[in-house]
Amino acid sequence: MESKKEPFISVKDVCKTYGEGDARVAALDHIDLDIEESQLIVVLGNSGCGKSTLLNMLGGMDRYDSGSVRFNGTELGKMSDKKLTAYRRNTVGFVFQSFNLIAGLTAKENVSLTADPKEPDAVKNALETVGLSDKADSYPSQLSGGQQQRVSIARALAKNPEFFLCDEPTGALDSQTGRVVMEYLEKLVREYGKTMIIVTHNQEIARLADRIIHMKNGQIISNEVNTSIMKVNEIEW
Ligand SMILES: Nc1ncnc2c1ncn2[C@@H]1O[C@H](COP(=O)(O)OP(=O)(O)O)[C@@H](O)[C@H]1O
Ligand SMILES: [Mg+2]
Repeated sequence: MESKKEPFISVKDVCKTYGEGDARVAALDHIDLDIEESQLIVVLGNSGCGKSTLLNMLGGMDRYDSGSVRFNGTELGKMSDKKLTAYRRNTVGFVFQSFNLIAGLTAKENVSLTADPKEPDAVKNALETVGLSDKADSYPSQLSGGQQQRVSIARALAKNPEFFLCDEPTGALDSQTGRVVMEYLEKLVREYGKTMIIVTHNQEIARLADRIIHMKNGQIISNEVNTSIMKVNEIEW
């Protein structure tokens, strides 16, 4: 019998509500989504439509109410808190709009915090990948916003995660700086073969994706293969 290969990440009929009574919000309303390895997925949609909630479910930052999220044959909803914490720590590389670097630590120390202990050069290599070898000993306050975001990309990369989740990674940056940051994220997918999901308001960033997903009111309203994938240096915003 032929056995069909499971998708890299599989989301089936996932619901997540917040609040109760009149304040109840269906942040995710029956979400179905398959994600293939080594692809760049861009999720678009207005503020409040559930994009961050979707990333939080995929990243094991929070638990869904019903449905299933499967990665590598395991269902996140069935994991103990301890297993889910380990999953979040080891499997997923996060990049947030607000960088989330620790102010009292240098770039190198920030990246070291979560780096793969089995890989002695992980920190050095990750900073090199984002073009910041010369800023290893700088503190976040000594770096520009774009450089801080590149440190946070290095921090995610040094974990050697199975996939990357990026929530509005250019949201706090001017367009020129945002482009540079996007070039490094693009490199992780197109040169290193990483899998990445980027949430953004920016329609232009969607042009880079293998697959473009639109959300509205907690639902996926379209999920399409991008037949004309572009590179950062070909788009404008
Ligand atoms: N921790 C929370 N508590 C209560 N409501 C929340 C929480 N997180 C998100 N929501 C609500 O869920 C909906 C989706 O939010 P979110 O996923 O952050 O949207 P987006 O990232 O697309 O802006 C919104 O109505 C938001 O107010
Ligand atoms: Mg959000």
